[in-house]
Amino acid sequence: MLPKIFSSSVFKKILMSLTGFGLVGFLITHLIGNANLYRSGSDPFNTYAAKLHSLGPILEVAEIGLLGMFVLHIVTALQLKFRSRNARQDRYAVNASKKGPSKSGFISQNMALSGLLILAFVVLHVKQLHFGPGMDAGYVTNVTGESTRDIHRLVVETFSDPLNVALYVAAMIVLGLHLRHGFWSAFQSLGLTCERSSKALYIASGLLAALIAGGFLFMPIWIYFGVQS
Ligand code: HEM
Repeated sequence: MLPKIFSSSVFKKILMSLTGFGLVGFLITHLIGNANLYRSGSDPFNTYAAKLHSLGPILEVAEIGLLGMFVLHIVTALQLKFRSRNARQDRYAVNASKKGPSKSGFISQNMALSGLLILAFVVLHVKQLHFGPGMDAGYVTNVTGESTRDIHRLVVETFSDPLNVALYVAAMIVLGLHLRHGFWSAFQSLGLTCERSSKALYIASGLLAALIAGGFLFMPIWIYFGVQS
């Protein structure tokens, strides 16, 4: 049997914060890699993707780690959600004792919903691109003398459909709102806020979330209008 500490809400909140920061780490590297889409031609993005895939087993371990963090983050979030529902009085006591500006609002109260919407987006996104048509379907290009998957073509084709663009933009708005509250909540769970820093950290959370979600949000729009012109 696991020690009692592993089932405590404090432990679960710390776990959520750490896995949340881990997922943000992935998002930042994904954003930096995807920024190759802004460079002219298909070579920069295809070269980046080919280099990534050449990591072989290292990439596979990273993907398993990423999946593990996703699962832990979601399972722990749902456990905390049901626990707080079953102990409504406790929840009111905690809310009443919060210091600094009130962060209670539609988004903070519906983090599970925004999280599930993001999960739905990720499932669709991975199916569309990671598991989308590959070299056997004709998506082949040449990078530094070697044949590799033309993932740039797939991304451009995906974002030449206005429905996909609208879906990605909507998903990135939900992601931004989820991240804004998630950052601030994680800082709190890890005990990094005090009455004086609370407001500054809330603003910093908003800026960080806008930077990440905004960076992704702009890509489909940029490609859509680039393709159409
Ligand atoms: C418009 C923005 C985005 C673009 C252009 C994009 C592009 C891509 C591409 C091309 C792949 C396939 C990589 C490959 O198989 O070689 C991929 C995989 C993936 N993306 Fe994104 N992505 C975007 C946003 C996001 C966001 C916001 C998330 C998470 C919330 C995300 C999560 C993932 C995951 C989990 C994978 C699978 C990991 C893997 O391939 O190893 N992506 N993305």
